[in-house]
Amino acid sequence: MPELALSSFLFLLLLLFFLFFDPLSATHLPFSRDRRLGRSIHGHVSLLEENMVSEGSAELCNIFNGRWVFDESYPLYSSQSCPYISSRVNCKYNGRPDSDYQKWRWQPDTCNVPRFDGEKLLEGLRGKRLMIVGDSLDRSMWESLVCMLLSYSPDITKSIQLNYPFNVFRALEYNASVEFFWAPFLVDLDMELVLGQPKRVLKPYEIEGNAQAWRGVDILIFNSAHYWTHLGGLKSWDYIEYENGLYEDLDRMFIYQKGMETWASWIDSNLDPQKTRVFFRSISPIHTDPSQWDEPNGNRCVNETEPITQDAFLSPIPPQMTIIETVLKQMKFPVYFFNITRLSDYRKDAHPSVYTSGDGEMRYGSASPADCSHWCVSGVPDIWNELLAFLLLY
Ligand SMILES: *[C@@H]1O[C@H](CO)[C@@H](O)[C@H](O)[C@H]1NC(C)=O
Ligand SMILES: *[C@@H]1O[C@H](CO)[C@@H](O)[C@H](O)[C@H]1NC(C)=O
Ligand SMILES: *[C@@H]1O[C@H](CO)[C@@H](O)[C@H](O)[C@H]1NC(C)=O
Repeated sequence: MPELALSSFLFLLLLLFFLFFDPLSATHLPFSRDRRLGRSIHGHVSLLEENMVSEGSAELCNIFNGRWVFDESYPLYSSQSCPYISSRVNCKYNGRPDSDYQKWRWQPDTCNVPRFDGEKLLEGLRGKRLMIVGDSLDRSMWESLVCMLLSYSPDITKSIQLNYPFNVFRALEYNASVEFFWAPFLVDLDMELVLGQPKRVLKPYEIEGNAQAWRGVDILIFNSAHYWTHLGGLKSWDYIEYENGLYEDLDRMFIYQKGMETWASWIDSNLDPQKTRVFFRSISPIHTDPSQWDEPNGNRCVNETEPITQDAFLSPIPPQMTIIETVLKQMKFPVYFFNITRLSDYRKDAHPSVYTSGDGEMRYGSASPADCSHWCVSGVPDIWNELLAFLLLY
C-alpha cells in the first residue's frame, strides 16, 4: 500500500524532526525561510497530505490537532473598543456577562502557534489583497481580523468601506487590503424574471458573476456550507437552475456538490498556484442540540460557559465536510484545507446564544431561538485568524 509507505515515511520524518528540533519550545523558529506570502510556499500542500505543511516551522505539524488552553492574556482585543463588529455577534454589547469564552487559545499537539503579530501580518501582506469569501461566519472572520490588526496597530493609516457585498479594510502605508465578499453559495444567485416576477435563481453551474470579485486577489479564503441547507424562510432562493429547468428544491447535498465542483473547476482553470494562495475553510459547527454533550434538558447552547472537554461529545462529521473533501481531492490546484470544524466543535460556550438581538438587549423570553451557529466576536474567529496568520507567515 503506497499510503502505508507514505505514512511510515512521514512518521520517520516527524521522529527526526523531534530529535533535532524542539518544536514545543515557545519562541524559537528553527528555520530560516522565505517570508514572502506571494510565493506559494505551501503551494504543494494538498488535502491528501492531511494538512501537513512541508516547509517552515509548521513543518509536519497538523495545526488542527490539539486542544484549547485557557489563557488570561486573551482576547487579542476588546470587542467594546472595535467599532466594526456586527452587533448581532458582539456579545459583550448585547450584555453577555461572562468573559471566559474569550480566553481560550488553540494549542496544536506538535507545534506552537505564535501569538498574533499584526505588524508582521501587514508586512507580509504588503502590496497584496487578502479576501475572505462566504457568508456571515466569514464576515465575522473579517471583522475579527480587522479588530485584531487595529488593536495591534491602533495608529495605522487606514480606510474602511462597508459597501455590500464588499467590506474592504486598507492599510494604506502597506498598500495592503483585507476584504470580505458576500457569496454564501460561491456560485451565482441572480435575480431574474420568472413568469414576469423577479425571483432569486440559484445557479450551481455558474460562478462568473461572483468570480469577478476575487479575480486578481492574492490570498483567498473560501467557505460555503450552511446556506445550502437552510429551510423555510431562511432558504435564499426561489428556484434552482438545473439542466435547463427551474426547481423549487433539489437534493441539498447533491446540489451542494455540483456547486462546489463548479467553484473547483473555476479555480483550476483560472488561477496560478505560483501567484495565488487559496484556502477553503471547512464547515463551522453548530451547537443546537445539548444532548450532544449529555445535557438533554438544556436549551440549545444557552448558559454554556465552558468548552466541551470530551471527544465523545463532539458532533458527527457534517455531510458538507465529506463532500468538499472529495471535491478538493480531485482538484489540480493545491487548495489548503483550513480544517477548523473539529477544533471549533469543542466551543459550545462561544456562540452568541441569547446575547444577539443586535440592539444591546438579550433575547431571554423572546420567541427567537438562541443563536448557536454564529460565534461571539471577539472569540473563536480570532483563533481562526491566528491560525491563518501562522499559515501565511511561518
Ligand atoms: C480535519 O481535522 C480532523 C481533526 O482535527 C481530522 O480528523 C480530519 O481527518 C481532518 N480532515 C482532513 C481532510 O484533513
Ligand atoms: C498596491 O497593491 C496592488 C495590489 O493589491 C498592486 O497592484 C499595486 O501595484 C500596488 N501599488 C504600489 C504603489 O505598490
Ligand atoms: C440560564 O440562566 C439564567 C440565569 O441564571 C436562567 O434564568 C435561565 O433559566 C437559564 N436558562 C436555561 C435554558 O438554563
